[in-house]
Amino acid sequence: MTQKNIAIIRNVTDLRQTIAKWRAEGHSIGLVPTMGALHAGHLSLVTKMLGQTDKVIASIFVNPKQFGAGEDLDRYPKNEDADCKMLSETGAHAVFIPDCASIYPEGFSTNITVAGLSDDLCGKARPGHFDGVSTIVTKLLVQAMPDVAIFGEKDFQQLAVIKRLQQDLDLPTKIISGAIVREDDGLALSSRNAYLTADERKIAALLSATLKQAVARANAGEDLRVIEAESTLYLLKAGFKAVDYFSFVDANTLKQVNDLSGQTRVLVAAHLGKTRLIDNFAV
Ligand code: PAF
Repeated sequence: MTQKNIAIIRNVTDLRQTIAKWRAEGHSIGLVPTMGALHAGHLSLVTKMLGQTDKVIASIFVNPKQFGAGEDLDRYPKNEDADCKMLSETGAHAVFIPDCASIYPEGFSTNITVAGLSDDLCGKARPGHFDGVSTIVTKLLVQAMPDVAIFGEKDFQQLAVIKRLQQDLDLPTKIISGAIVREDDGLALSSRNAYLTADERKIAALLSATLKQAVARANAGEDLRVIEAESTLYLLKAGFKAVDYFSFVDANTLKQVNDLSGQTRVLVAAHLGKTRLIDNFAV
């Protein structure tokens, strides 16, 4: 089935057939995994991939295994028609939209765990989340066997976990990343921004502003623990309900750092009303 000029693929047999045909024609293949509810951040990944490979396939699958009990699986925004239209207009060649029963059939028992990198930060606040991500991403990479797959830097821990599993499992796909796309006021684009009320939306912009200020303070030589503590307090006073972490970490190991001698990233996760937002900046 096609919408305009994008092929819509619903099962792994058709996915493999399409990819085999492209391969036979000598094309390279790029995969852009998503959970749908697409925005300009996702489309920037498609655009970047179009500069890397001949054929670009996006996937849309709201993966239940990466949602914990009481999280937003049931209300996660879905708009398949709009997503396909956007993908088509951006130039993606195909979209893979499998159903849950085909991804996790009766008896599915395999779990991929990337130990260490998955444990802290979002992993601590969302136990099992990265096992769910690692399992579905491994599955998608094995199903499609793309030359390149791309993931956004907004989910910085997810990116580190995926790079690790690709390396550990010798998966023949190159993992690349796409820069965070932001609204004019600095809020990182996220499908979950749709949950924010008008008042929360105003407060949400403080997340990136606080990170930016934290970067400036760190570069000016202030103590990183003091910046983390004061930034957390500032966000709580500004209306965030809870801050899961505000942390300067090594960009590769994700371990908290005491100075800026290595490649450093500052990461935050905070709750605003019923919405959990994450963001990060390079230092
Ligand atoms: O970042 C996402 O949208 C998801 O975590 C991913 C990588 C598509 C896996 O479900």
